[in-house]
Amino acid sequence: MELLPHRPDLDSVDPDLDLSAEIKRLRAEKKAIILAHYYQEPAVQDLADFVGDSLQLAIEARKAKADVILFCGVHFMAETAKILNPNSIVVLPDMDAGCSLADRCHAEIFREWLKDYPDHVVISYINCSAGVKALSDIICTSANAVSVVNSVPADKKIVFAPDRHLGHWVSVQTGRGMALYPGFCIVHEQFTPRRVAAMKVQSPEAKLIVHPECDISISAKADFVGSTAAMLNFIAKDTGKTFLIGTEPGIIYQMKKLRPDAEFLPIPADSGRNGSLCPYMKLNTLEKVYLALRDMKPEIVLDEALRQRALKPMEAMLLLR
Ligand code: 13P
Ligand code: SF4
Repeated sequence: MELLPHRPDLDSVDPDLDLSAEIKRLRAEKKAIILAHYYQEPAVQDLADFVGDSLQLAIEARKAKADVILFCGVHFMAETAKILNPNSIVVLPDMDAGCSLADRCHAEIFREWLKDYPDHVVISYINCSAGVKALSDIICTSANAVSVVNSVPADKKIVFAPDRHLGHWVSVQTGRGMALYPGFCIVHEQFTPRRVAAMKVQSPEAKLIVHPECDISISAKADFVGSTAAMLNFIAKDTGKTFLIGTEPGIIYQMKKLRPDAEFLPIPADSGRNGSLCPYMKLNTLEKVYLALRDMKPEIVLDEALRQRALKPMEAMLLLR
């Protein structure tokens, strides 16, 4: 069967291959570094040179001196790496590893939507395409969204895109009213107060720690709200023994390493399906990581003029950090 040009050729992988050893060999041969997000499967996280949240990964990508950045995350993250480091070849194990926030906010639709908000400062969450970044004044991540919003002079009006839940939470933290683009994450939107309440009955002592992509009805009740890296910092220092985790459960792998004495209970999706796994993040597998390094594809390619326009709001964010 003929494959679409960007689909990994899984049939070409020798089933007897020691994938981890081959990936390490190819990484050295190609002068590559492997960056991975906390939602990647444990075997992928273990192979990475650096595991982090979106902000940390962007910073690592920018300073990388490698010929190749193999980005084990989703498309907008790999594209951000290319925006910040155009001299490295950036490959993503599966080009279909999108993001519901980025994929549902097309640049052309966003451009139209912005016409209703002239004279507003445009703050976009890093979970968006290069096209949307290029239409923004400043980018934020979940780690620095509050500081980014606070950096905007009080007399300026703000639009925040594309995550309405993160926008709502930041608005509560900062007291700034903002026009919110109606996007959401299909993973975090699955968590409901009903599920959390049921878990609290089972584990009344457990602390609720959540990502700000959750609905405000969840984050308002949480003991801690923060980016994936901030959640890890929180549990590392906290004295609690049981935590309810309101984000993609891939992060629990690192949580257990930091706190082997504690228990981490993922909040299940309310739909009953395994909705708390990010279907995009989980497209990357060891086999595809191997193929991406072996074949140097799929590669992130960006129009240079677009890259330059998307770089500006990224730099504005990195200057604030
Ligand atoms: P972090 O920046 O907190 O890692 O979040 C990225 C993300 O996609 C959360 O769903
Ligand atoms: Fe996007 Fe949500 Fe997946 Fe994060 S968890 S990459 S926001 S779909």
